[in-house]
Amino acid sequence: MAYELLTLERRDDGVAIVTLANGKVNPLSQELLTELRAVVDELAADLPGAVVVTGGERIFAAGADISQFGGQEEAGPIGEAFHATIDALAALPRFVIAAVSGYALGGGCELALGCDYRIASERAVFGQPEILLGIIPGGGGTQRLARTVGASRAKEMCITGRPVKADEALRIGLADEVVAPEELHDRAIALGAEVAKGALTAQAICKRVIDAGLSTSLADGLAGERAGFVEVFGTEDSQIGVKSFLEHGPGKAEFTGS
Ligand code: COA
Repeated sequence: MAYELLTLERRDDGVAIVTLANGKVNPLSQELLTELRAVVDELAADLPGAVVVTGGERIFAAGADISQFGGQEEAGPIGEAFHATIDALAALPRFVIAAVSGYALGGGCELALGCDYRIASERAVFGQPEILLGIIPGGGGTQRLARTVGASRAKEMCITGRPVKADEALRIGLADEVVAPEELHDRAIALGAEVAKGALTAQAICKRVIDAGLSTSLADGLAGERAGFVEVFGTEDSQIGVKSFLEHGPGKAEFTGS
């Protein structure tokens, strides 16, 4: 499919880069969400080794397109489009890295939260400012932010709507790494490329088990891990990895991804 509001680059090192390109402030309009959902479906059908999601240099994404808001009639489809798209991204069986340069506000922050890992530029600013419009986050922010930074910090952020700069984001676990602006792109690709060389099916099982455990009890999560631990021994890479360790020591295995 040809995209107009984003680009997809598939690199030889196995990293796929999705770049939002919807004008100066990258609003997550319904049209952009449709393209984002399509690109996620395209990636799911032909999986890369890892995914990087990024946006503009000054603005990662300014959130939902406020000009498309109306009343309750519009709110339902907008919320559904956000949830369906970000859920599909989050469910990709690959490590998904957000490379956040500049503002990631509202739906932009929610999109970053739907990724597995967030690398922020020193200039990044996160936030859920919906309350300043008299509304609440509708793209997963109330749930994923609370699971990421804890309920009290999530409530404080969503109820004040205040911006959170990169250094604080790192401190509260909203950003996982902070790098100089000029290093952001290279660092995200280097991490993606490292992951892409790994035991991809085992990674997918690992991600699935961690995510499933976050929405269940510890006992059910541990049961999921036991099942995943048995499942992973059915992969080719588990045979390659164990044999390589016994013969050559740690870190030398060359995985096939299966
Ligand atoms: N939806 C639709 N339009 C938006 C938008 C959004 N989320 N965010 C910004 N815009 C528009 C502005 O209305 C403005 O339009 P105009 O040029 O026709 O006046 C243009 O983008 C530039 O915005 P401006 O605020 O002048 O740019 P800035 O560089 O000073 O600030 C932001 C950029 C992103 C920090 C600021 O625009 C902002 O806070 N946006 C809203 C974020 C938000 O509340 N998101 C949650 C939505 S539920």
